[in-house]
Order: sequence, then structure tokens, then C-alpha cells
Amino acid sequence: MKIEEIVPHGMCAGVRAAVDLAMRQRDAYCLHSLVHSEIVTDELKSRGFRFVEDVEEVPDGAVVVFSAHGVSPSVRARAAEKGLKVVDATCPVVARAHRAVREFCERGLPVVVIGDPAHVEVKGLLGEISGGRTPEKGGRIGVVCQTTLDAGEVARRVEELRRDYVVDSVSDVCPATRERQEAVRAFDGDAILVLGSRDSANTRRLCEVARCRVFTAGSMEEVKKARDQMEGLGRVGVTSGASTPESFFESAVSCLRRVPLHVAFIMDGNGRWAQRRGKERIFGHVAGARTLSRVVEWCGRRGIRYVTVYAFSTENWRRPKAEGDGLMRLFAKMLKTRAGSLVENRVRLRVVGRRGDLPESLRESIERVERLTAGFERQLVVCISYGGRAEIVDAANRAVEDGRKVTEESFRRLLYAPDVPDPDLVVRTSGERRVSNFLLWECAYSEYHFTDVLWPDFSERDLDIALDDYSSRHRRRGGVA
Ligand code: FPP
Repeated sequence: MKIEEIVPHGMCAGVRAAVDLAMRQRDAYCLHSLVHSEIVTDELKSRGFRFVEDVEEVPDGAVVVFSAHGVSPSVRARAAEKGLKVVDATCPVVARAHRAVREFCERGLPVVVIGDPAHVEVKGLLGEISGGRTPEKGGRIGVVCQTTLDAGEVARRVEELRRDYVVDSVSDVCPATRERQEAVRAFDGDAILVLGSRDSANTRRLCEVARCRVFTAGSMEEVKKARDQMEGLGRVGVTSGASTPESFFESAVSCLRRVPLHVAFIMDGNGRWAQRRGKERIFGHVAGARTLSRVVEWCGRRGIRYVTVYAFSTENWRRPKAEGDGLMRLFAKMLKTRAGSLVENRVRLRVVGRRGDLPESLRESIERVERLTAGFERQLVVCISYGGRAEIVDAANRAVEDGRKVTEESFRRLLYAPDVPDPDLVVRTSGERRVSNFLLWECAYSEYHFTDVLWPDFSERDLDIALDDYSSRHRRRGGVA
């Protein structure tokens, strides 16, 4: 089965803006689902959001977020009467449709809304209609549509209306939705997997416009089920609705390809490698740095999006000063010499750990390369002056400063790189079979692969052995399936 990512897919600008806006609120109520994604809803719930279906359920004076689907003027008026602090996450394309309805009404035109009357977006649009005029044959009407419909279907409906009326139609299907539909329509493989929630209208539309067999999944469990059902097919396209988080898309693609999304390496054995050659330990680290560059390239070719490496632990400061200083100089040199290659290969560098422990000039070099590579999707996370316990203590102290009880989800967001998914696989070289204070929180469910190969000798074949080992494991995450 060949997995192909259908481009574009996933969150549109309107949804992303709504999610960003909502994530900045505290103690807020959300009127309806912010966007139709169970993953986003769960995330907001874990941040203390309460979801209501009626503005009357929001206590007077509280913060209320209006969802991306928009609300009718009567809801706005009621919110004002109740003294609610309104955060308006209405998608700009939906807001444009609302303005169009108001303008039609001001011009005295009867308004037709094309869409599903049960959908919250359509209810909001219908609420804008004032005057209640009935269309007369041959007369002029204003037409708007639910922004997530199939663009072709809307065009056909408008044409039908033109037979009986003079149609003024100013709003249209959202451009991002249309682009995703066109990409799905153009895919000519054996099947398409559409990722997103069942209550998402634009996701359902993607299923309808596909010209091949369609599978759907709203959770990783469903992705695994779909993968088993699709076994033996040739080309399989993967897309996602405009409210589906990119992180879910990435995890799904990795699962379908049976490749880990995130591999973490404990790069052990540099010192022994050097000593066996009668050289200073720092020679082993220099050779290890070369291996690291190659490993990042090999992982990229295999579709692994995140690579994390343990470069210097909080305990490594106990090593002789000459070795510590040598490693700091090596990091600085690598940043200088490898920055170009990171940009060329579109890899984002992130350094995590107690940065305050590092020399100032090194900190500045790190910040420079982080800024330079900030926009790239693939990531290299380098742990320097890092300790798993230190990371948990730092997060705990931030929670205490915040003065709130934590949940697993909210605590996770206080870690050094909260947006990076947990490692699927941890590889440790040099024959040691220990965790050594590496990513203690993040590796709760990771698979481990240990090899006797010393890090500087770690080859492309050794990486494939580790990946084969990973793909043969059956990850149950505490369940029984
Ligand atoms: C552990 O081997 C390795 C380290 C403490 C340093 C790893 C650093 C690199 C590979 C350089 C990479 C550079 C960047 C910027 C990430 P060890 O010294 O403990 O080996 P031993 O167990 O044989 O003594």
C-alpha cells in the first residue's frame, strides 16, 4: 500500500485562527463546538472550557466564545443583555455571508440560504433575515450558502434558481474547502482515507466528492482499523477536513506507513569509540556529531518527522571540565557549519533543556539557528543540559506559579516542547540498557530498541534494524486489543 498525502488538507486559516483565539482564553464558555473536531473539543475541555448549546446557559458576566460557525443577531443581543464578555471566533468567510444577508435585507430582497437547516452555521445565517419577504417568480432574490458545501452542487442549485428568479449571489463556498474538494476529486488512486469528525460538514463533503473508495477515521483507533481494511490496496490518498488538527494527520500518516512519527536517540558510546582508537574522548564526540547529521538525513528520507537526540545531560556537567568545554565548542561549531544544511533540508532546530546553564555565546547561536529554521515542519530536537527529572521539576514549578491543579494534559503543556508528539521509539546505542533520565514523561509508552553498536558507528542499516524492530511491536498503550 502506497500512502500519498493529498495537498492541501487540514485546518484552514479560519479554523486555525478560531482555535488560536480560544486557546488564549481562560474560564470560558463556548457556544456550540468551536469547530467540528472532537480532538479540538477534548483539548479545550482539558483546558477547562465548558460547552453549551444555548447562550442562556452561560452565567451573566462570564466569557463566551462564539464558534467559527457564527451566531445570529438575537444571540449577540442576548449576550450583551447578560453582560457577557464575547470572544468572537466566527470564520471570516462565514462573517462575509452574514454581511451579505444583511445587505440583501436592507435592499428589500427575499433571501435564500442554501444549506442544511439543522447546521448551526445555517441557523445563524437564517437569524440574520429580517422582513421575511417571499420570493416572487421573475423577481430579484439574494442567495447565500453554507460555506462548507460542495462547490459544484451550490453552482447547480444557483443555476436552478436562475430559471425562476434574478439571482444576486455574493457569498460562496469557502475557498479552502473548495481547494480541498478539488484535490480529493483529482485523486485517481484506489482509495482515500478522510480524517476528521463525523459531525464536520466539510469532512463529510470530502467523502462525497471522492472518485474512489472512501474510508474515514476520527481517532487513531479508527485509523488502525482503516489500515487493516485497506491492506493490499495500491495507492491510498490521505486527506483531512478543514477542522482536523495537523498533529492527527501526521500521526495517522505515520501509522499507515508503519513508520514512527518520532524517534529519539541516546547517542551513547562516543568516549569508548575514541578510547579504542587511542584518542581523546572528544574525538568520539566529533565522530558522533557526523553520525548525527547522517541520521537526521536518513530519518527524513524514511518520513520520520521528529528526531530527538540526547546531546548533554544535566549529569554530564560532572565530567572533566575539558570534556564539557570541548562539547560546548563542538555544539557551537555544529550550529555554524550545519545551519545551512538544516535550512536546505527544511529541518527546524529546537534545543531543549536548562538553557541558562549554557555559555551566553552558545545560547545566542542556538537562538539564531532556531529563528532561521522556525517555519519548517520536520524537527530536530536537541537536548542539551537536559534531564527528564529537571524537566518535570521545571514544569511542576510553573504549575505552582500558576496556582492551579494540573491534569495530565495541562501538565504536558508545561514541558519543554509540548507540541512535539511523544517519541514512538527510543534507540540507545553502545549496549547500555538504561533510560538515563531521558524524556521520562514523554516516553511513558515509547518502544525501546537497544543496540551494541557505538554511536559513531551507527549506520543506515542499524537504523533500519531499529525501525523493523519497532514495526514488529504491537503497541497496546495499557489496553488489551
Ligand atoms: C555519550 O557518549 C555522548 C554524549 C554525552 C555527547 C553526544 C554528543 C554528540 C554526538 C555531538 C552532537 C552534537 C550536537 C550539537 C547535538 P559517552 O561520551 O558517554 O560515551 P561512553 O559511554 O563511551 O563514554
